[in-house]
Amino acid sequence: LLADCIGGRRALVVTTPTVERLYGRRLRAYLARTGGDAHVAVVGRTEATKQLDGVTDICDLAAARGLERSSPIVAVGGGVCTDLSGLAAALYQRGVPHINVPTTFVGLIDAGIGVKNAVNHGGRKSALGTFHPPENCLLDPGFLDTLPARHRRNGLAESIKLAIVVDATLFALLERSGPAIVDGSARSSPIVLDVIRRSVKGMLGELAPNLFEVDDLRRKVDFGHTFSAYIEMASEHRVLHGEAVAMDVALSTEIAMVVGLLDVADRDRIIALLRRCGLATHYPPVSAEQLWRSLRAIVEHRDGELHLVVPTGIGVCTFLGMDAIDPAVIRVALERLRRNTIQTVTYE
Ligand SMILES: NC(=O)c1ccc[n+]([C@@H]2O[C@H](COP(=O)([O-])OP(=O)(O)OC[C@H]3O[C@@H](n4cnc5c(N)ncnc54)[C@H](O)[C@@H]3O)[C@@H](O)[C@H]2O)c1
Ligand SMILES: [Zn+2]
Repeated sequence: LLADCIGGRRALVVTTPTVERLYGRRLRAYLARTGGDAHVAVVGRTEATKQLDGVTDICDLAAARGLERSSPIVAVGGGVCTDLSGLAAALYQRGVPHINVPTTFVGLIDAGIGVKNAVNHGGRKSALGTFHPPENCLLDPGFLDTLPARHRRNGLAESIKLAIVVDATLFALLERSGPAIVDGSARSSPIVLDVIRRSVKGMLGELAPNLFEVDDLRRKVDFGHTFSAYIEMASEHRVLHGEAVAMDVALSTEIAMVVGLLDVADRDRIIALLRRCGLATHYPPVSAEQLWRSLRAIVEHRDGELHLVVPTGIGVCTFLGMDAIDPAVIRVALERLRRNTIQTVTYE
């Protein structure tokens, strides 16, 4: 399938060291066997170094390989790899095609299937990026077999997020299978495929009508993505993206309850699922005041508009503006999460 997608064009295949170690030999053998003109480059970038110079490094590799306007850049890796490669593809020669082969859970259901890409800049998460739809995304859940539990959990957070706001059936499926997906006992089972399929379908269903975010700034899939960017950056990336999303989901859920939009039974189901999957529901070093300030910074950045996604049940949600939230709401919501902590998670 990958060879068909590349279609004999000269291609630059970008991967990262871990994926290279696990799959590099097979990938090279496959590309050699299928007889194309694809060159594999290993780019040693991580979340902490997902920066613009990583993009220009890939552009330099593309130039050295003699890539032309029709030559694709293929990313085989996690979200860091697909983000850097997608942005490089958008910029190199004013835009060349790119193909995503996501190898992480986050990649399979989120980073690898959307049309956006971005790098961190000036202390801000995903500050520079473009909309550059991939030509193809090849989703192979087999990659999850080698993914460490922490990264399976990290991806599961995005799936839980989606389930809460748009898909009650997926939520029930995750209640049954989430912990087994994290500990690996559900490996290669139909349940994992079901979770991935429903997550991808749900995500694309939300993205498709408003692909370039020009019609409506209110996106349900942004649930869990308001406070999380601040938490990620404040932890200096010790907290992973999905882990921060889980904390934001928990906080937004408590906020919904504080302002009277969510009942206690649904709140308990959400918090319990996160915790059963081993996801922490707050990051102790970050205070309510810092979270409030981060909200204000976002609002300034978005021309005074806030669209905080909060659940109103399982599979349904609404948006809150700045008028609905004040520092006391955040303080009370965070306090509830702190009091209810039943686990300690450490971040290396
Ligand atoms: N563009 C978007 O729409 C979008 C959406 C969501 C997330 N993102 C971005 O994606 C990034 C997070 O993605 P991620 O969680 O994939 O992180 P990642 O790319 O850092 O990968 C996580 C870890 O897993 C390793 N890895 C990758 N595939 C593996 C495999 N099959 N087996 C074993 N190890 C493997 C990697 O080497 C890395 O250490 C963040 O930078 C986030 O901002 C982008
Ligand atoms: Zn995300």
